[in-house]
Order: sequence, then structure tokens, then C-alpha cells
Amino acid sequence: MSLKTMFREFVSKLQKGGGDVAQEKQRKRGKLTARERVDEILDSESFLETDLFVEHSSTDFGMDTKKLAGDGVITGFGKIDQRPVAIFAQDFTVAGGSLGKAHAAKIVKVMDGAGNKKIPLIGINDSGGARIQEGVDSLYGYGEIFLRNTTFSGVIPQLSLILGPCAGGAVYSPALTDFVFVVEKISNMFITGPQVIKTVLGEDVSPEVLGGAITHTAITGNAHFYAKTEFEAFEQIKRLLSFLPANCLETPPRAESKPPLKELTDKVIPDNRRKAYDVIDVIHGLVDDSDFMQVHELYAKNIVVGFARIDGKPIGIIANQPKFLAGVLDVNASDKAARFIRFCDAFGISLLTLVDTPGYLPGVDQEHAGVIRHGAKLLYSYSEATVPKVTLIMRKAYGGAYIAMCSRHLGASSVIAWPTAEIAVMGAEGAANIVFRKEIAASEDPEATRQKKIQEYEDKFANPYVAASKGYVDILTEPNKTRDIVIKAFEYAGEQDHGNSFRRHGNIPL
Ligand code: HXC
Repeated sequence: MSLKTMFREFVSKLQKGGGDVAQEKQRKRGKLTARERVDEILDSESFLETDLFVEHSSTDFGMDTKKLAGDGVITGFGKIDQRPVAIFAQDFTVAGGSLGKAHAAKIVKVMDGAGNKKIPLIGINDSGGARIQEGVDSLYGYGEIFLRNTTFSGVIPQLSLILGPCAGGAVYSPALTDFVFVVEKISNMFITGPQVIKTVLGEDVSPEVLGGAITHTAITGNAHFYAKTEFEAFEQIKRLLSFLPANCLETPPRAESKPPLKELTDKVIPDNRRKAYDVIDVIHGLVDDSDFMQVHELYAKNIVVGFARIDGKPIGIIANQPKFLAGVLDVNASDKAARFIRFCDAFGISLLTLVDTPGYLPGVDQEHAGVIRHGAKLLYSYSEATVPKVTLIMRKAYGGAYIAMCSRHLGASSVIAWPTAEIAVMGAEGAANIVFRKEIAASEDPEATRQKKIQEYEDKFANPYVAASKGYVDILTEPNKTRDIVIKAFEYAGEQDHGNSFRRHGNIPL
């Protein structure tokens, strides 16, 4: 056999991963193969594979090393929409995509490549976790990966696709990355699987309920994007990357400015102050082409976060959602928004905050769930952010939530308000009950007095004028003029300098 033929056969065998039978099994599970995934995500012909010939290398007990093509992971570099990315894809057809020493070394090498070249990293997880036969070597491998996930956090965007099992300590690498994508009936993430739970706790639970795609997007918030198919998830990745710079030093990619598809009129806020509305309509009326990519769409729906463009420039939007729980801030909403703000700040993406919230959610459940600690993350992330921050108060902005939703006092570059804004220390009913308690109780008709006091309080405080008279609100305007004002506000806002770049870091984990 000629050297050329030998080489070609060798490459072809390695590229088949676990072989035809294993690949057929993978397809029967409704999954693409690792190589197909890489090809689908990247621009055609752009993939440069590295380390295809790397061999299994570790102490183990009796693995057939010849079966371990590429040691169960494909690594390399490619392009998405002409922009370079680094990528790895675990190959479940090779020892269940389990992570051994050489497998980990390949991932670490491509991560270092991404960090050095300062390009986004995409990781495709489809693995049984630590390769049991390799013992502590696989634990070493995970540690090396976690270290890099952390040191490159805030330097390059890191995206994780969960396209199969991701179990045990393996879940912590995706959890350390910026965005996690899951696919219906394919993704499973858990620290301990159903069998262990059955043994230890006697509880029966299916993998889907325990850690499937809906569980992680709607209940735990561990995943940010839900897709029905792998192809849909790949499209989500491409769309997301279109808003992001390749690294923290690059300016976010500007596109051509486009007007919104929908007009924003004053009908967007209902005449009845207590009536809900959909804040997505406001967003669609403000941003270019009415194009808004929600992050964490199914989780903590009382706050909306996501990416859009305004005058061609990518921005991150954080908006209370009156349609869910009246837009209150709770533990999950605070976590969701704080993490998003921090991501945007790390990558130089300006923040637009839309405010309509009655405040932090009261109650024993929330207090015991740590709403103080979690709510503080929101204050922290806004205060810490040095990117341009523009705030629009649409309706309610009460108490702590007024401060927390990027008020001037937390460093907003501009605060804009609509005539429907209500900026006060608390809602009129609560305020009247406390301030006029004695007067109400002593009156002949307490209920009538109470209503009168509520009305007085509303007349005095449920408007934007007191805050504007003190300069806490910079600009009052109407909905149909808001987009132009927001564009100008971003144009004139610079990066802020907190003057503390000497510090090592703050102390609030988000
Ligand atoms: C070695 C593994 C493996 C592993 C799967 N395989 N997981 N080999 N180490 N961790 C192998 C199987 O032996 C099998 O090999 C092939 O992969 C396919 O696995 P199946 O079990 O046939 O597939 P399926 O029925 O789909 O089940 C998939 C699975 C299951 C749910 C992932 O394999 C499983 O439960 N694996 C163990 C998961 C686990 O407990 N991992 C935690 C390890 S400890 P053959 O040769 O038969 O095809 C850990 C700690 C890390 O991860 C801590 C880091 C901080």
C-alpha cells in the first residue's frame, strides 16, 4: 500500500469516530454526529481541524485504545459569517464522548488558541463525563478546562451547546461559560443522574424532567436558549454572535441602521395604570428592524433581557415585563438581569433599561430564598458597569426597584421618562396607609379618607415631574419621539471611568 493510500485510509478511519455502527446508533437517538455538527455550524469549507491524530494516553484499566479515534473529541478553528471562532465537539460515538487525559488536552489546546487569538469559543458537549477508566487523569482534565473557562471569562465570548448527556462535574464547564444552548429531547444536564437519585433518595425521575431542555431553560435558568432541533440551535448561535465582538477589546460589530418595523405610540401604555401590557411591543417600537433576540426567554419572565441594535449599534436591553407578575423583581429576575448586564459590560455592549416595576417581590418565600443577596447583584452589576447606560422610565419606578433599575444614582448616562412615569418611594396605597394611618383611623369615614389620601399622594408623586425637577430624570418625552432621543443619548454617552482599575476585583459572584 502506498504511503498516500495509507494516509488517506488512516484519516478516513479517524474521521469516522466510533465507526459506522456507533454513528448509526447516534443518528437513531435523533442526533447529528460530532463532525456533522461542526460542519453545520461553521461556514462551508472553513474548518481547520487540529489534533485529529492525537491518541489516547493515560493509565487505565484495559481500554482498547485503537477504538479511541481522536480520543473522542474534534477540535479546531473555523468561521461563522466570515468571523473566526474556535470550536470543539465531543464525539459520543467514541467511548461515549467521555473525557480522558488526551481528550482534555485537545480541548485545553483549542481553548488556549481561542484565548490567544481572542476569538469566541464554541463547545459542543455530548459526553458521559469523566472517563472512568482513566481515573484521576480525567479529573485533572476537567480542572484544566474550568481554569480556562474562568480566565477567559470576560475576554472572549464562550458558548456551550449541550447536545447529548452532560453529567457529573462536566456540567460546570458550560456553567462557567457565557451562554448555554439546549435542544428538546437531546440535551441532559445533571450533577447526578436518575439512577443515583433512585439509589440514594429512592426518587423516580426521568432524565428529561431532571435535566432536560425545558427544565434548564424554564426552571433552573442553567441554559439560556431553547431549540427544537440542533439546526435551530446552530442558527441561534450565529444570530447571537452577530451582536457580539470577538473579544473584550474589539468594538461590537455595527450594522446598517434600520428603522423599527412598528411605530411606538402613546397607546403602548394602557390608560388604566393597573393594566398590564407587553414590554416586547415597546422594544419592537424602539430597535432597528424590530429585531430583538431574547436571552433566557423562558426563565424569570417578569424581566426581559436580550440583544438588539439601535442605529446599527448592538445594545443589551433589560426590561421589566408588566405581563408577568406585574414586572416585579424577585430572586430569579435579579440573577437573570445581573448576569446579562455583567456580560454586556465585559464586552463593551451599551445598556438600555426599560423600567416599569412595582418593586421587589415581598413575602416569606422570597426573603428566605435570599432576595436581599440576589437583589444586591442587580445593584452591583449596574453600578459596576462602565458602558453607556440609558434608562427609560415608562411607568412605575418605586422604591428600591427605582434605584436598582439603572437610576441616575447607579450611574446611568441618561435617564429618560414618559409622562406616564410614576417615580416615588412606594406605591400610593401603601404610602397613604402608613403616612396617614392615624388620620384615616380618626376620621368619620376611614375608607373615604383613605381613598382621598391615596388620590392626593398619586397627584403629588405618581408622575415624573418631582424627579425631573431635581435632575434625577434628564429628559421627558413621549413614546413616538423616544427612539431618536435614545439614539442621541447613546451617541453622547461615553465609557465611564470609576477610577478604581487598581483593584483586583469586587466580591459579588454573579
Ligand atoms: C467511560 C463511558 C462513560 C464514561 C459512557 N461510556 N460513559 N466510558 N467513561 N464516563 C461508554 C459506555 O461504556 C459505552 O461504551 C458508550 O460510552 C456509550 O454509552 P452507553 O451507556 O451505551 O450509552 P447510553 O445508553 O446512551 O447512556 C449514556 C450515559 C451512560 C447516560 C451517558 O453511558 C452513563 O450513565 N455513563 C456514565 C455517566 C457518569 O456517571 N458519568 C460521571 C463520571 S464521574 P461501549 O464500549 O459499550 O460502546 C464525573 C466526575 C467529573 O464525571 C468531575 C469533574 C469535576
